[in-house]
Amino acid sequence: MLVEAVEFMLTPGPRWARDAGLLYQMVAFRARFRRNRVAWQDHIDRCHEFIMKAATSGPSNNRAIVFGSGLLIEVPIDYLARTFKEVVLVDAVHGLPERWRLRHYSNIKRIEADITGLIEKTTTEPLNARFGGQQFDLAISANILSQLPLFANKSTIKSMEYQSDSELARAIISSHIAGIRSIASTTCLITDIERISVDGLNQIDRSDLLHGVTLPPPTEIWRWDLAPRPELSNDYDVYSRVGAWLNIGDA
Ligand SMILES: C[S@@+](CC[C@H](N)C(=O)[O-])C[C@H]1O[C@@H](n2cnc3c(N)ncnc32)[C@H](O)[C@@H]1O
Repeated sequence: MLVEAVEFMLTPGPRWARDAGLLYQMVAFRARFRRNRVAWQDHIDRCHEFIMKAATSGPSNNRAIVFGSGLLIEVPIDYLARTFKEVVLVDAVHGLPERWRLRHYSNIKRIEADITGLIEKTTTEPLNARFGGQQFDLAISANILSQLPLFANKSTIKSMEYQSDSELARAIISSHIAGIRSIASTTCLITDIERISVDGLNQIDRSDLLHGVTLPPPTEIWRWDLAPRPELSNDYDVYSRVGAWLNIGDA
């Protein structure tokens, strides 16, 4: 707890990210990773392998952009830095250990930005316009799609007249997919799709993390043992089904 409190106090980041709970979420995610490192390893390996495949699938390797670089757990950053002339990492918050880890890379740029545009600036401007119309060879969405709706600003929901939180979530999800497609010639989307709680062999809960948005069949799918007991409960384990798409079509 003390480690997390110190990290929360010392990590630099924009006010909007702190206010929206994104800094708190980053600190909590790191603590959860520390506790469940072994259970997460297969998921992490699958993410790295998929991203490395995507990185070699396009015609050129000049510029890559990673949305949701976070703690650089799921992102093979050393490989990307070696493979691309420039790598841009976008997240609401970049932690102190990640800043330290990246200090020697002159070809990695960190950007603190609200990927939805709905927290920081409350804008519906498309993703590529918000990044100055820049184009990339590869855009990676690194396990953030299901997270993006969680931090959307409630006042924005009102002003944009969405009927429900789910409707807003669906709009954010579809817009993010259109956004990565507009910004790069090759796209690599990794996201958790469903969260499932199991007590032994019995499934006791299942939630659709994409709020009913139907995506094309994933290129690959795997299980992420997110919270084996006793992480969330002594009585059940929680896992996510994760999908990975190379060059996804419209959602
Ligand atoms: C599950 S974590 C991703 C972990 C990361 N891929 C890694 O390898 O460590 C989700 C990330 O999405 C980021 N995020 C969520 N909503 C965001 C938003 N609106 N703008 C920018 N980043 C956001 C969080 O800060 C967090 O780092």
